[in-house]
Amino acid sequence: MTALRAVDVHKAYRRGREQVHALRGVTLEVHPGEVVALLGRSGSGKTTLLNCLLGWETPDSGEVTVPGAAEPGAAPWRTVAVVPQRFGLLDELTLADNVAVPAQLAGIADPGEAALATLGALQLGHLADRLPDEVSLGEQQRTALARALVVRPAFLVADEPTARLDEEMSTRVLATLREVHAAAGTGVLIAGHDPLAVAAADRVVQLSDGVLLG
Ligand SMILES: Nc1ncnc2c1ncn2[C@@H]1O[C@H](COP(=O)(O)OP(=O)(O)OP(=O)(O)O)[C@@H](O)[C@H]1O
Ligand SMILES: [Mg+2]
Repeated sequence: MTALRAVDVHKAYRRGREQVHALRGVTLEVHPGEVVALLGRSGSGKTTLLNCLLGWETPDSGEVTVPGAAEPGAAPWRTVAVVPQRFGLLDELTLADNVAVPAQLAGIADPGEAALATLGALQLGHLADRLPDEVSLGEQQRTALARALVVRPAFLVADEPTARLDEEMSTRVLATLREVHAAAGTGVLIAGHDPLAVAAADRVVQLSDGVLLG
């Protein structure tokens, strides 16, 4: 498995007459089995960089390499799973069904069982039959993480996965991530501001106004 890689990526948005340079030549690699924390204040370009790595947005220039992608720039969701900043749960499905959907699409033998096991690992087992609207934002956030982990991806890209969790729950979620990582050698990229995520990372990089520092 090769690395998840962005090389000299530039991305600008146009807002009326204004150009916003969200990324100005960013190079970043996440190797298999590595946990990388991507820090940077709000608006520094973290989500834009993740979206470019996922093929959700096209860089203006530069190159993105995604392991296992059939076409350049399009991340296969089974290989590179995502926890979006806005979770993207399906409102009409229970938490268990939200997590079971990708398991089923991935051809996992018992998707319902896999969903319950993953929800249980994130302390959500007792909420499996609830709808997203019937649980807290932090619980929705952990459900989005369960939905990503249930397919046992080679890489996990998580956009502020602990932003709505208290310290105790953040610690538990990060411990779960480290366990998954240790058991399956998952490469993890976590964007956010959380000092606990920094502590859980093998390597920390910082975005500042679209430029990556160290
Ligand atoms: N669709 C868009 N149109 C115009 N500007 C955008 C768009 N998306 C992002 N931007 C701008 O690009 C810059 C980077 O945004 P981005 O969402 O990547 O930041 P971020 O580091 O993820 O911030 P946060 O921590 O608040 O999530 C910001 O100045 C933002 O306002
Ligand atoms: Mg963001």
